[in-house]
Amino acid sequence: MNYLGSKKRLSGFIYNVISHSLKLKLTDCSFCDLFAGTGIVGNYFHDKVKSIIYNDREYYSFVINTAFFSNVSEEKYRAMLAELNQLDGREGFIFNQYSECGTAGRLYFSSENGQKIDAIRMDIERRFKSSEIDQNFYMLLLATLLKAVDKVANKASVHCAYLKTVKTTATKNLHLLAVKRTEVSHPDYQIFNEDSNELITQVKGDILYLDPPYNGREYGSYYHLLNTIALYDIDFEPKGKEGLRPYNTSKFCLRSEAENVMFDLYKNAIFSIFS
Ligand SMILES: C[S@@+](CC[C@H](N)C(=O)[O-])C[C@H]1O[C@@H](n2cnc3c(N)ncnc32)[C@H](O)[C@@H]1O
Repeated sequence: MNYLGSKKRLSGFIYNVISHSLKLKLTDCSFCDLFAGTGIVGNYFHDKVKSIIYNDREYYSFVINTAFFSNVSEEKYRAMLAELNQLDGREGFIFNQYSECGTAGRLYFSSENGQKIDAIRMDIERRFKSSEIDQNFYMLLLATLLKAVDKVANKASVHCAYLKTVKTTATKNLHLLAVKRTEVSHPDYQIFNEDSNELITQVKGDILYLDPPYNGREYGSYYHLLNTIALYDIDFEPKGKEGLRPYNTSKFCLRSEAENVMFDLYKNAIFSIFS
């Protein structure tokens, strides 16, 4: 996924810096990624450390990071994807608010893909509510949908604004593909969906990796559609041309607050290594 501030290309470098500055063996250390985003850094470290924590205040990130550890069998997963990929489109919230030919006139998705997203999202919810699938499977399917959505969204890079005309990749049919999951059965991982400065008072460990926002770009607005599709809390009124959902700006994105909130984090952190 194309993500603002992604450390995809830097994970190896981060690993080298951290592993060379340790007194303990890395395999004896716990690792906490407090601003995990796509989970790239945690995913790189998870099988090299004793235990791992992921956290991010955005729900879509929680979904994606939870799915990485899902132990649903590959056979069951692929069979479910085949069923979901066959569904006929439905004219729901995503179609009406965010798609070509929808009532709101926002062009985030082609008409077919908007309907497909609604159909798949409703079906996942139905299966979960009827206990046909458990929480673990539910999160895996949501993450799979988010990744498929990202590939066909009619946007430049982030999900906060759409292009004026539907670009070629957005005309391709949305198709669910199995997402990458960990191949090791890691006994000790935790995924949180909390504010960093709240969570830091509840956890402790060895390595604390901090990758907060470093400018005014608020992830809750830039990736609002991923949250809306993941939550599917469709009784809110999307705001303005972009169709934003309500969100709170992170203090790390505010010039007047960023320094204070970072000091507060350091003050409360009970970790031996900061990176
Ligand atoms: C620079 S990105 C992290 C990128 C991540 N390392 C990756 O490679 O995908 C910063 C992340 O911090 C999250 N964030 C911002 N403010 C936060 C807060 N107060 N508590 C927890 N997460 C926060 C954002 O949602 C975003 O995912």
